[in-house]
Amino acid sequence: MEERATVPAGGQKPLLQALAGETLERPPWWLMRQAGRYLPEYRALRTKAPGFIEFCLNPELASEATLQPVRRFGMDAAILFADILLVPHALGQKVEFGEDGPMLEPIAEGLGISGLRQGGIAGLDPVYETVRRCRAGLPVETALIGFAGSPWTVATYMVEGGASRDFRRTKAWAYRDPLGFAALIELIVEATVDYLSGQIAAGADAVQLFDSWAGVLSETGFARWVIEPTRRITARLKERFPAVPVIGFPRGAGLFYQHYVAESGIAAIGIDTPVSPAFAREMLQGRVAVQGNLDPVVLLVGGTVMVEEVRAIRGALGGGPFIFNLGHGVLPQTPPENVAALAHLLAEPADIG
Ligand code: CP3
Repeated sequence: MEERATVPAGGQKPLLQALAGETLERPPWWLMRQAGRYLPEYRALRTKAPGFIEFCLNPELASEATLQPVRRFGMDAAILFADILLVPHALGQKVEFGEDGPMLEPIAEGLGISGLRQGGIAGLDPVYETVRRCRAGLPVETALIGFAGSPWTVATYMVEGGASRDFRRTKAWAYRDPLGFAALIELIVEATVDYLSGQIAAGADAVQLFDSWAGVLSETGFARWVIEPTRRITARLKERFPAVPVIGFPRGAGLFYQHYVAESGIAAIGIDTPVSPAFAREMLQGRVAVQGNLDPVVLLVGGTVMVEEVRAIRGALGGGPFIFNLGHGVLPQTPPENVAALAHLLAEPADIG
């Protein structure tokens, strides 16, 4: 076990209480992608670095971007400002962010992992410095969440070279050459354990694994490329940091959510928008804390529909360990006033009856 500068789980931070299995009267909340372009102060800050990677690797700018939404809306957690594609960058792959999203120099199936650094990640120390600065700048009751992409999702970007519609290169590699593909996954598992350990040692209270493309795999693929690598990461982190909870977000897992919860070793499950809150209460909340799952478009629309949807989600999940969040990230077109209205709604006590 390593020395850490933060309050242990179950301390006075509501987010950690919920992650430890407590049911709270008012659910702790934060939003995936709560920092970023919907905030004018982020857009102003973003001009201070030429590229997005430089921005992420600048502790002064990245810590300020992390703190901005918490200062404005008072969420119960800040999420480190960084990106899941810093791991491929730190493995030596060329990563750029253009107008149409990320572009990577794709890894060819035939060459396997030979072009990547084998000795572990390099150059991510500025992220740990960002964590330390955030820690110092946050109220004591506000948790700091570190994060990484899950190996499967990171691998899709590394192999496709960016976003994809059908993931055919990545899936074809996994079907044709499972051992070669497993070597890539294993390299990402190692890098992710190192990266998250660095974040935790610097002061992250919890970490989330974003598996944005978990929902495109078959049952056997999901078991092998989503659950198994996640289980290895949670087991390794638990050895070093037994008190630090891992939140899993296997977006689109559908009927595989239950397997993921039972087998991956996570402390909390992030559910996406299509998951029925009643299903999550019945089938998932008995084992782990549940986090989710307001439609990001409802946050964009706001008004009475938001009041109703928030009430329904709280009504279904508020009787057990629960963290209020979206079902996916905040959309850049979201009016900040709607997030303020959501903060206000969540501050009210639960409806009675
Ligand atoms: O506020 C936060 O949540 C913290 C920061 C954060 C970012 N990316 C900043 C970012 C987090 C947690 C992420 C996770 C991430 N990054 C995921 C998983 C979550 C998801 O949305 O499914 C994925 C798939 C990525 C990869 C990525 N980064 C893409 C596909 C893009 C382009 C599309 C987009 O959403 O903009 C990015 C760029 C990115 N990451 C931006 C931000 C604020 C926008 C770039 C900019 O501001 O110039």
